[in-house]
Amino acid sequence: KNLPQNLYTADSVRAMDACAINDHQIPGAVLMKRAGRVCFGALQSHFPCAQTVTVFCGGGNNGGDGYVVAALAQAAGMAVQVIYLSEPMELTGDAQRAYQYALQEGVACRAFTSDYAMPIQGVIVDALLGTGLRGEVRLQMVEVINKINAAGLPVLSVDIPSGLCADTGQSLGAVVQADVTCTFIGLKLGLLTGDGPSLCGQVVFSDLEVPNAVLTGQPVVAQRILLEMLLMQVPTRRKAAHKGDFGHSLIIGGDIGYGGAALMSAEVCARMGSGLTSLATRPENVTAANVRVPEVMAIPITAGVDVEEWVNKATVIAVGPGLGKFAWGEQLLLAALMAQKPLVIDADGLNLIAQGIGGRVLAQRDVNIPLILTPHPGEAARLLKTSNEAVQNDRVAAVKALADQYKATVLLKGAGSLIAGPGTPVTLCSDGNPGMASGGMGDVLTGIIAGLMAQSLAPLTALQLAVTLHAAAADRLAQRHGQRGLLATDLIQEARALINGK
Ligand code: APR
Repeated sequence: KNLPQNLYTADSVRAMDACAINDHQIPGAVLMKRAGRVCFGALQSHFPCAQTVTVFCGGGNNGGDGYVVAALAQAAGMAVQVIYLSEPMELTGDAQRAYQYALQEGVACRAFTSDYAMPIQGVIVDALLGTGLRGEVRLQMVEVINKINAAGLPVLSVDIPSGLCADTGQSLGAVVQADVTCTFIGLKLGLLTGDGPSLCGQVVFSDLEVPNAVLTGQPVVAQRILLEMLLMQVPTRRKAAHKGDFGHSLIIGGDIGYGGAALMSAEVCARMGSGLTSLATRPENVTAANVRVPEVMAIPITAGVDVEEWVNKATVIAVGPGLGKFAWGEQLLLAALMAQKPLVIDADGLNLIAQGIGGRVLAQRDVNIPLILTPHPGEAARLLKTSNEAVQNDRVAAVKALADQYKATVLLKGAGSLIAGPGTPVTLCSDGNPGMASGGMGDVLTGIIAGLMAQSLAPLTALQLAVTLHAAAADRLAQRHGQRGLLATDLIQEARALINGK
């Protein structure tokens, strides 16, 4: 939670490191000592009972940081061993000095060999590879990483879990699974998106006391969004307000078997404060909708029935929850696209578009009328006509490409969700938890977006706020009741409390 807002590439952080050393005369050895101290502090606070520490050191400065941790642990009276992957004789500069420091403190150091038996107790410190990792992890390193992961001991990674690409959050062949990652100077995007959040464990950040000017020289790749800041953009309600001031949302979806998706979406939309909420759905869902939320106007749509009247009444439309990929859904998607109203497209709405349905109407849409797309990586891959892997290998590029191609404000879901509009800076939501991996979560998010759009929030703000409300609601619930069994409808009241500042 105390992480900085600005996120950078690994190259930018390397440039910051060099800038601190060369332009601000902070010796590299000083930065390395500070990094080592941060790691050792985190080791003590996260694993207060640990008596034994095994530090795996690579041949670069990441390894150097590791030797400092080893020296500090030894000085604190712990049983310490360094396992090195590169002969200490070959270490250069600050890393060599850090090795000498560890020797002075009496740290036992030995080379990694294939017959090395992993420790059976204590904490492992992973100082193998940091921002200097280039290309796929080489074979011997893969072997060490696999052994660390198989050891079943707590792991603290220095700067980045070894093997994780600090730019994409993807594995470069094998990655250390860390419990804590202490990262320095500038926060690297890959720690917070893709597989990064799973692999880093808890992220501890330190700027190593470098001046702020070191950071400002580098481009920000994405910025974390914060709920408190976005909530400030929600207008307060006038005393004399009436329901017409807060829009009329129309949720479209709920083909046979998927009625719940559309219902949840409509319910949360109303709970976000949409003045009026309508639900265009299969006749089979209407009774259930009226029983569950009588405030929502549930309109039965049979194949061939015109939805135009309702589309015309709406001030914002969300199409997709449980829409299905058949003629019924196609007809409704086309009606929503043709309406020239602010539009949110999710789920099967996106899949139909990826199949080419509504392509011409979409191309002819007035670009000044807000359009929001909310794909998960699979849907994004279909929309971009590429593979899921390619999307995940460069999530920032994927979200930007979708925003440009569809002239839309886009949410790319998945841990570390990314948001971008055409030409806008990319933002990231670092809230949320794996309890959210359950059916209906996306439908609830779509309803939140529509409900906020209905209240005249700009599309980018509405999307950013919706994503953070959704994630923060899930985090609060997980804190209280745990992650397992978190249901999408549980989020409704919690999100309502949050948007009201409660
Ligand atoms: N597979 C195996 N080893 C590799 C690979 C690879 N694909 N790519 C690089 N290496 C090795 C290099 O041979 C070298 O020994 O990794 C080492 C360099 O990695 P780093 O220590 O990450 O790079 P360096 O620039 O020395 O240090 C950067 O220092 O400021 C600290 O921890 C901070 O991450 C930062 C690190």
